[in-house]
Amino acid sequence: MFARFYLSLVVLASSAFASPAARIAIQSRQAITPLSTAQIEAYKPYTFYASTGYCSPSTTINWSCGANCEANPSFIPVASGGDGDAVQFWFVGFDPTLNSVIVSHQGTDSSEILPILTDAEFILKALDSSLFSGVSSSVEAHDGFAKAQASTASAVLAAVQEAMAAHSTTAVTTVGHSLGAAISLLDALYLSIQMPSANVNFIGYGLPRVGNQAFANLIDSKLPNLSHINNKEDPVPILPSEFIGYVHPSGEKHIMDSNAWVACPGQDNDSKECTTGDVPSIFSGDENDHDGPYDGVEMGC
Ligand SMILES: *[C@@H]1O[C@H](CO)[C@@H](O)[C@H](O)[C@H]1NC(C)=O
Ligand SMILES: *[C@@H]1O[C@H](CO)[C@@H](O)[C@H](O)[C@H]1NC(C)=O
Ligand SMILES: *[C@@H]1O[C@H](CO)[C@@H](O)[C@H](O)[C@H]1NC(C)=O
Repeated sequence: MFARFYLSLVVLASSAFASPAARIAIQSRQAITPLSTAQIEAYKPYTFYASTGYCSPSTTINWSCGANCEANPSFIPVASGGDGDAVQFWFVGFDPTLNSVIVSHQGTDSSEILPILTDAEFILKALDSSLFSGVSSSVEAHDGFAKAQASTASAVLAAVQEAMAAHSTTAVTTVGHSLGAAISLLDALYLSIQMPSANVNFIGYGLPRVGNQAFANLIDSKLPNLSHINNKEDPVPILPSEFIGYVHPSGEKHIMDSNAWVACPGQDNDSKECTTGDVPSIFSGDENDHDGPYDGVEMGC
């Protein structure tokens, strides 16, 4: 609230006193901007990796599981795990074209995630200080998401370190859809804390809210270039509710009904062009939008 108040003061002050050029610069920094075709296409390999999270058996990547899993043919798997039941499938590997280590966690469809998001049993809790060392106890995340992330954290970290060493890279991108996006956002924070010199980014699809205001602020400072991409009227990203203390980090890209993608500035931008404004309640959402298509890609196996 103070930040918004401060921003409006800056805008007021600038329109009164700044030169027209400076005013335009301030306005364009805050504007909701459409993404170019090239910017949208740059997400595609990550979109396939988020979808491939669904295709992974417990030992190796199952490349025979649908076209989405075969869309990044140069991918070099390093490790995978999970059982697709109690523990979501996950995999770690290296993409030579992107020159990045990739971490992906399996997602869920909307019929499975909506009950988790509205389950009162899961509450906001401080992050586990053995995984997230040095993080203030005021930083809280959804207990169910945090437990899911913790269950694979050390195996994922070991695989990421192995992949970074084998391919001489510091770039790590965590991806996922739905529940997989929530786990991968926590993984991105975890990896950036465990490996301060790594260059960690997160690209998620249909991301639910994961933590409180302090969590969103920490994510913004640690992962300033992340993207969470929301499709049309998907209701999952508006859950759990802001009224019980959940806040999205910045970095939303919203696919509008016209299929244009826009970058939404700030956390939970309530403009009608962004999800929080476009989907004011679960009743105005459409569950069918949760799986995509994200620039032609439907999530799943
Ligand atoms: C891989 O996917 C194919 C097609 O979905 C399936 O028939 C096969 O059983 C899977 N293999 C493993 C090892 O999970
Ligand atoms: C930020 O992320 C976008 C989308 O993944 C990428 O194209 C761009 O190169 C990144 N910028 C920086 C400075 O890392
Ligand atoms: C939402 O985007 C608009 C630009 O249209 C910007 O002025 C506003 O500050 C943003 N809201 C938040 C909450 O960041």
